[in-house]
Amino acid sequence: MAGPRRAAGQPPAAAAERSGERARVAVTRALPDGPFRRLEGRAHAEVWRGEGPAPTAWLREACAGAAGLLATPADRVGDDLVVACPTLRVVSNLAVGTDNVDVAAMTRRKVLVGNTPGVLTAATADLAFALVLAASRRLIEARDAVLDGLWTAWDPAFMLGLELAGATMGIIGAGRIGMAVARRALAFDMRVLAWSRRGRPPAGVGVDGVEMVAMDRLLRESDVVSIHVALDASSAHLVGAAELALMKPTAVLVNTARGAVVDQEALFEALASGRIAAAGLDVVEHEPIDPSDPLLRLPNCIVVPHIGSATVATRTAMAELAVDNLLAGITGERLPSCVNPELYDA
Ligand code: GLV
Repeated sequence: MAGPRRAAGQPPAAAAERSGERARVAVTRALPDGPFRRLEGRAHAEVWRGEGPAPTAWLREACAGAAGLLATPADRVGDDLVVACPTLRVVSNLAVGTDNVDVAAMTRRKVLVGNTPGVLTAATADLAFALVLAASRRLIEARDAVLDGLWTAWDPAFMLGLELAGATMGIIGAGRIGMAVARRALAFDMRVLAWSRRGRPPAGVGVDGVEMVAMDRLLRESDVVSIHVALDASSAHLVGAAELALMKPTAVLVNTARGAVVDQEALFEALASGRIAAAGLDVVEHEPIDPSDPLLRLPNCIVVPHIGSATVATRTAMAELAVDNLLAGITGERLPSCVNPELYDA
């Protein structure tokens, strides 16, 4: 993107680096060795190594006087943090989604926000397709049946599921990950429909053979619906009771985007009542889900713990990009992937 390399209101280079002192940064999760060593060579990193997400008090303390923060989707980064820690100049999120960061507040306070698009496309599309297969062919239910001693004989009517060849895949969100799922669906001989707010995929991302349609038509005609939109005010509960009511009773819903894109109560009702056949979820409205949540007891719902990008190669690539964003932000360079680039143009 054209424009000055430095963001408005930011100093020409980190004063700390100029004076030979390493700038301080806070990191809310241990990173893979390679990218972490690279970060440590240029900055002094305070890392949360405890159980669960970094507590608010730790975050405030670690960010006090720090130039940058490397956060994960488990962290809430709001205006209050930047007000309490005014030295922060960059928040580098270890994710493509930035719904955990109040980007508008960061922009107002001239704090750059980085994310990690592109490097996680294949891994996330693979996991989405793993859930498509697992939910359509009832893999977890079938495995449980074996454990419960229900495999008594080969039975022509046992554990029947949905055949993907010839079925219709409906993709909500026609960005990089959505279109990577489309390519996988086409390879499984599925017909592919897609919907996006803009009515078309971004330039260079579209896939031949994918038909862009209205949301209602996608919901009515699809045997599998897979969600790939970012979470924001316009996509919260995009799939609710009304949308689920349009789906076929034999349909499967897969969500590897963000839990709040689906109204989870409505989804529970639809699955429990047989309104739709099955769901595969990598994300839920409130993570981590309580193990006693009734959704987890439904035999036709598979829930996995937000592992869309969880391959060794992808998590390492994400950490490399997040470190690049962080280092660029603290040294006044342009972030390789910035979600509020308007700061450079101000
Ligand atoms: C993970 O959910 C991401 O947004 O990268």
